[in-house]
Amino acid sequence: MSILTLSYEPLHVFWQEDRLIPKDLPDLDGVNHLDLSLDEQRLGDSLQVFADLLFVVDEKGSILDCRFGDSAAYSEACEQVHSKGLNDILSTEARDRLRQYLSEQRQPTKPASFEFPLMLGGRELWFDARLVGASNSQLILSARDITKYKQTEYRLKRQLQRISALRSIDFAIASGLDLNLLLSILLDRVIETLRVDAADVLLLDPKLNELTYAAGKGFRTNILQHTRLRPGQGHAGKVALERRIVTISDLTKGNTDFERLPLFPSEKFIVYFGVPLIAKGRVLGVLEIFHRSPLHADEDWMDFLNIIAGQTAIAIDSAMMFKELQKANFELSLAYNATIDAWSRALDLRGKETEGHTRRVTDLTTRFATLLGVKDSDLLHIRRGATLHDIGKVAIPDEILFKPAPLNQDEWQIMRQHPKYAVDLLSPIKYLEKATEIPHWHHEKWDGSGYPDHLGGEEIPFSARLFALVDVYEALTSDRPYRKAWAKQDAIHYIENQAGKHFDPRLVPEFLNLVNANGF
Ligand code: C2E
Ligand code: SIN
Ligand code: SIN
Ligand code: FE
Ligand code: FE
Repeated sequence: MSILTLSYEPLHVFWQEDRLIPKDLPDLDGVNHLDLSLDEQRLGDSLQVFADLLFVVDEKGSILDCRFGDSAAYSEACEQVHSKGLNDILSTEARDRLRQYLSEQRQPTKPASFEFPLMLGGRELWFDARLVGASNSQLILSARDITKYKQTEYRLKRQLQRISALRSIDFAIASGLDLNLLLSILLDRVIETLRVDAADVLLLDPKLNELTYAAGKGFRTNILQHTRLRPGQGHAGKVALERRIVTISDLTKGNTDFERLPLFPSEKFIVYFGVPLIAKGRVLGVLEIFHRSPLHADEDWMDFLNIIAGQTAIAIDSAMMFKELQKANFELSLAYNATIDAWSRALDLRGKETEGHTRRVTDLTTRFATLLGVKDSDLLHIRRGATLHDIGKVAIPDEILFKPAPLNQDEWQIMRQHPKYAVDLLSPIKYLEKATEIPHWHHEKWDGSGYPDHLGGEEIPFSARLFALVDVYEALTSDRPYRKAWAKQDAIHYIENQAGKHFDPRLVPEFLNLVNANGF
């Protein structure tokens, strides 16, 4: 067969709608890898080196001739295209790219090649073509088979997409989101990345020993939301019991467990995958995947499914651990507070005071601290500290503590030990470290004349400074063994007078505002 019956005239091709070759395709010497005066032999040699296919095409895109390399697939290609037009063998998209490619040959930075797919023997092959010669009416296009490269590229792209999906899931897990939100993000990624129609997560309730629906995406009905399966029961139950993936490639073929769900067919699912969710050796649930058309699960796809199931299991495990930890912390904190309350009540009982005394001091302290903008985490310590402020008095003998008269010097000496006794009592208890500030320093004074450490000004912890106002106010307005309660106005005047002496002068007006506004 004769390949080249071209006439090699200067290039003047005019762009028309029915033409493939644009007008003024300039300076083709630049792209001429082949000398157009080559003879057939040399053209053949060049083909062996550079190309798998060579097309000779006229201005309308009709294929005048086709040359192939050594593979049978290419010779088949030539047979297919012979005496056809490029229009017949190229997709619209590929045709547009070819036009674009040819028209850009005018530009100084002309593209080197363009890519197009061909369906050959039911298989899609990709070629990378370049213009190797042209006359005013004919073109020679040389094409290399890049199918392998394309497949690799596609695979890499997909892997990249999967990696980025996994990263975003890691991110979501690490940000400690609530489990429902986390599962919803996970299922979005599963559907998007595995390209499936629907997915859900069933969680195994260890108490009931049942799989129940926790989250789902892509369903038309809500029938699966009522799923309750024992391990071993149904597809998901089998997955959980046998700890292995169950695959159903055609759900429409009867004998599947979904038959007992009358509405299930309206979902029109065909493919089912159930994957066990296992963390630390425990089955936590099942990830279910549904697709409404046949699905080709290649190795990459299965790998990704396994990885994402692993991540889902980790997410569930850590969310459950977090919840349990929170619950344990909460219970512990209740236990702590109950202990503290019991101690302080014991003290109140000994003093024959109403149970309300310590609570009044504690409540007023909490309100004052809140007014001063103390944040919640510190408030807890301040509250505990206020409750325990005089706990050291358990070590003061009755005859001093309940003496109905002023104390003598020896008695004072002992009474002034009560903050130290509190520290002795509380310091072994780690969780009360911060709370101990108040029992320790509530008798320090702003001018440094207090006890036990003669701290002054801001050396005194803020909590103890604010508490001192509450303590004195509360003491003055209550009956004591050594005196009757003072009138409220007298207590207020006393505190005003002690600003900068006993009390932090900046806190005094704030405290008096609180007391006046609330009528304590
Ligand atoms: P408390 O009765 O809870 O009083 C706490 C603080 O309120 C006192 O700390 C003091 O700063 C103030 N305060 C209470 N009552 C009066 C008062 O009548 N006048 C004035 N100016 N301030 C008062 P302080 O003085 O360090 O006393 C610590 C604890 O020692 C008192 O706790 C109380 O249990 C005991 N105490 C103090 N004075 C006497 C007393 O004359 N006789 C007896 N039996 N105990 C006393
Ligand atoms: C991210 O945006 O990377 C994490 C959050 C998400 O997956 O939606
Ligand atoms: C069902 O049959 O109730 C549901 C089975 C499954 O979710 O695997
Ligand atoms: Fe005290
Ligand atoms: Fe007190």
